[in-house]
Amino acid sequence: MNRTKILTLTVVSAVQLAVVPFRAEAQGASLSTPQTEQKIDALLAKMTIEEKVGQLNQLSSGSLTGPSSVVRDGDALIRTGMVGSLFNSVTWKETNAYQRESIEGSRLHIPVLFGLDVIHGFRTTFPIPLGLSSSWDTDLVEQTARVAAQEASSQGVRWTFSPMVDIARDPRWGRIAEGAGEDPYLGSAFARAYVRGYQGRRLDDPSSIVACAKHFVGYGAAEGGRDYNTTEISERTLRDVYLPPFRAAVGEGAGTIMSAFNSINGVPSSANAFTLTEVLRNEWKFQGFVDSDWTAVHEITLHGIAENDEAAAQKSFLAGVDMDMQSAAYLPHLPDLVKSGRVPVGRLDDAVRRVLRIKFALGLFERPYVPEVVDANPTEVPASRELARRAAEESFVLLENRKVAGFPLLPIAPVAGQRVALIGPLSDSAGDMLGPWSGEGRASDVVTLRMALAPRLERLHVGLTVTQGMNAAGSETSGIAAAVEAARQSDLVILALGESGHSSGEASARSRIDLPGHQEELLEAVVATGKPTVLILFSGRPLAVEWASRNVPAILMAWFPGLQGGPALVRTLFGEAEPSGRLTVSVPRSVGQVPMYYNRLNTGRPRVDPIGLGSTKSDPYYVSGYIDELNTPLYPFGYGLGYTTFEISGVKVSAASISASAVNAGRAQLTVNANVRNSGTRVGTETAQLYIRLRGTSVARPVRELKGFKRVHLEPGESSQLAFNLDREELSFWNLDMKNVVEQGTLYVWVASDSSVGDPLRVDITE
Ligand code: NOJ
Repeated sequence: MNRTKILTLTVVSAVQLAVVPFRAEAQGASLSTPQTEQKIDALLAKMTIEEKVGQLNQLSSGSLTGPSSVVRDGDALIRTGMVGSLFNSVTWKETNAYQRESIEGSRLHIPVLFGLDVIHGFRTTFPIPLGLSSSWDTDLVEQTARVAAQEASSQGVRWTFSPMVDIARDPRWGRIAEGAGEDPYLGSAFARAYVRGYQGRRLDDPSSIVACAKHFVGYGAAEGGRDYNTTEISERTLRDVYLPPFRAAVGEGAGTIMSAFNSINGVPSSANAFTLTEVLRNEWKFQGFVDSDWTAVHEITLHGIAENDEAAAQKSFLAGVDMDMQSAAYLPHLPDLVKSGRVPVGRLDDAVRRVLRIKFALGLFERPYVPEVVDANPTEVPASRELARRAAEESFVLLENRKVAGFPLLPIAPVAGQRVALIGPLSDSAGDMLGPWSGEGRASDVVTLRMALAPRLERLHVGLTVTQGMNAAGSETSGIAAAVEAARQSDLVILALGESGHSSGEASARSRIDLPGHQEELLEAVVATGKPTVLILFSGRPLAVEWASRNVPAILMAWFPGLQGGPALVRTLFGEAEPSGRLTVSVPRSVGQVPMYYNRLNTGRPRVDPIGLGSTKSDPYYVSGYIDELNTPLYPFGYGLGYTTFEISGVKVSAASISASAVNAGRAQLTVNANVRNSGTRVGTETAQLYIRLRGTSVARPVRELKGFKRVHLEPGESSQLAFNLDREELSFWNLDMKNVVEQGTLYVWVASDSSVGDPLRVDITE
């Protein structure tokens, strides 16, 4: 057994709850029971202050996911009960071995909780979360999370630092790849889906893992898109935009929350009593525990609100951070802080109770070890592979599909004797297909586009030339000539361009959001050959590809599609799979438009009045906009083409007026009906999106807000009647008095295929 005996530590100077069984909204899963609380009481009574603090100490046991130095003798720390959680162990042998130190070696035999960044799969790597969100398919996402939970738990990993539910409105921020995009309503739906998938029906099912909604909160609002940066967020925006997905995750029963790196209005998130205690615990009644992000407790000294680690430990802990990831600030300092009365013992017991509650909920006390895993490759499980392929297919967003020789270029149908040129640095780059945070995913499990395309074309007796053109960084141009020659000799070009897998993710902000390096030159040179060209974009963020949008007939956004990316792309190119993804982030025309998001507030001088509401008069000069750029995105939120067409019609609202007080009291709701018809000649999936706008309210509301969506799969000519409900949840907002209520005013509601179109119906909201 090759277990590392090394734990890593960062270089940093070295009210008991009422017993309220917590019920997850949807599943009725419970984080605790009165019996569990009694067991916790009994355990707490036996623990020394040091042992209690030990439960709040979390260390990395293996590979690094942050700045670090190495401290030896981790086992001794475990045996003295000084480690509550370890993360980054990925094999059953290692987790069992560490567990044995705690169960057999420590005085109280409390099991260790093993965590890991299982972000879009464990070994079976699914598309990056931004790609998965483009499916608008919450069932699909739940299934991927379930597979991830099964694989991770089999190795003893019972805790994932996922889902990342940060709303992201700035594509410069590399971590936009890890979330579900820019919209709080959609983000909340995905937050719930991930929690359901990871935590399963019961947390004590050995194949369930506890979810961690992160990063609490506002992390995605980093100024300038620079990771870890400061944020300024009003309380209303915090509550309307950034908090809802966390609330959804907590409502679904998420057992843990990770506190973020950023400060909000000058207060670091990892020492923020308002968000961590007032909102999370007091308002939402969260009963799990809060883990800091990697060294975030120590980092409040760098933010400047603590002079040293002792003060940092005190501030973070009192604000509501229960567990200290990797700062090693709680372990040395909390015992004295408690003994000297600077931290109440009740707060210590509360934090330990929360951690033990999750350990009991997972069944770790009964089953601390996992059975030996026979060395099998889980990516070979047909159902998992099939799911990975379907997830990739559903994540693709078709941005353009213009006619070439009278027909849309996609799907393709090359015939015997023809030749295809596959060009670009992402054509055959297995590692890049995994994208950032690929966990245990291995390049050797990936089927690339080239690997999937070559045998398909061979069967069809179609020739294939593959040439990289340049590397993903686009740092040299010497391969362009060969790429152009390959294009000239072909009947069809497939260009695989975009970012490397690690150009997005943590600490990977970009100041430009176009194709990296000289890739644009490669693109333009190949397109200049006049050969029909399909551009496949691989990326962890929206890319500003304005030239391509005007000059390339077919563009498919493939994100980082995971290990079945190649087969999924080939099936999509050949029309066996229908691209059905819709953007969950606006794609800007240029970086200068950032931040760009569809649900913005209007101004008093809007350039284009949204969806024709209110005044349409606008001065040509004194308007809010740029003198050198449009305000509109290149591709709007919710947008995506398919191989067929749809019509949305017959939108009806159940009432022309509704009483705000009745909706607030839960006595009234609106129903919106719409008809969706497949008006094309191929089977396809439409995502009908319900948007609202509120006017006449005490504070300005966004020009449009998503408040419902439904995916419908329709045969050619087939129709489906859809019904959406609008009740308190959808119609309320944080008003002038900072109350979450439905207000009197006017409601406009419409159902559309993306956020840029619509035909609003008016409903009066009376008192
Ligand atoms: C830092 C990242 O911000 C966080 O998302 C991750 O879970 C931790 N490192 C642990 O790896």
